[in-house]
Amino acid sequence: NIPEFVKIVEVGPRDGLQNEKHIVPTAVKVKLIEMLVASGLDVVEATSFVSPKWVPQLADAKDVMKAIRNVEGVRFPVLTPNLKGFEAAVAAGAKEVAIFASASESFSKSNINCSIEDSLLRYHDVATAATKLSIPVRGYISCVVGCPVEGTVLPSQVAYVAKKLYDMGCSDISLGDTIGVGTPGTVIPMLEAVTDVVPTDKLAVHYHDTYGQALSNILASLQMGISTVDSSVSGLGGCPYAKGASGNVATEDVVYMLNGLGVKTNVDLKKLMLAGDFICKHLGRSSGSKTAVAMSKV
Ligand code: HMG
Ligand code: MG
Repeated sequence: NIPEFVKIVEVGPRDGLQNEKHIVPTAVKVKLIEMLVASGLDVVEATSFVSPKWVPQLADAKDVMKAIRNVEGVRFPVLTPNLKGFEAAVAAGAKEVAIFASASESFSKSNINCSIEDSLLRYHDVATAATKLSIPVRGYISCVVGCPVEGTVLPSQVAYVAKKLYDMGCSDISLGDTIGVGTPGTVIPMLEAVTDVVPTDKLAVHYHDTYGQALSNILASLQMGISTVDSSVSGLGGCPYAKGASGNVATEDVVYMLNGLGVKTNVDLKKLMLAGDFICKHLGRSSGSKTAVAMSKV
């Protein structure tokens, strides 16, 4: 009993690129977003309005938003760590934002330079400002099964933050295995704890593929009724504040699995592969998607 339709949230232009050392030109980012949209993806996380000192790669957030402002029928959420970022995002034309908390105290400190409780206070202000403007807010939680510093993260810690974000009015809550250490053995108990406090239809899963477990974890999540999956074209990415963590699960691999399951996504795999090819060529590396590699050989 898995969902008939899965909404894919493409995070490549944000999560995928944020950790790239060499600055990718704005025009390349914009072209990537356009190609992703052309493949049928209807939610593409476009960029982040974070401190350019923390994430230099996304310092052109305003220009990216300007370039895609006339693209219709697609949602382009952006990350906003505080009111300053929220205001800049709105001024740049953002119609959806995302706030990002952590289930682990150490990761909160290294990623957004404050404690979990302080971040929730900050995010409450962002959520309140967004509600006034009828702007939907996605809530992320990082380190839902493991933290690079603290190791194991308990399901109760995740459920605690999830409930807080839900009570703030988040439209969906994305559960991030930031360092990709989870297996169905840890992800299922985590999801059980979270679904006790937040309705399943408000949840998304966001698995990095460091240990090659992301697809199994996605399947387990679908079997628990979750129907929103985050992924990154070609498996690009990693969080700059989670050393050693590799990219998100590749969107091509997710689409291939969902096609095999007969689950609808609206995404055209061939067109998606063109987008992957484009950005991999630009970055000078081979695709992190096994599906893309296999299909380009046949
Ligand atoms: P801070 O240094 O504590 O902030 O950073 P501050 O308020 O003290 O300000 C310091 C300076 O930053 C000031 O400038 C501010 O104006 C500026 P200065 O006076 O030094 O010139 N500043 C900003 N500039 C632009 N936009 C802003 C902004 N805010 C302050 N919004 C802060 C705190 C949160 C800003 C910083 O830590 C930060 O930007 N962190 C973002 C880190 C990040 O983007 N990480 C990756 C995304 S999260 C992720 O990848 C996980 C996820 O994928 C899920 C998963 O996989 O688990 C979502
Ligand atoms: Mg991530």
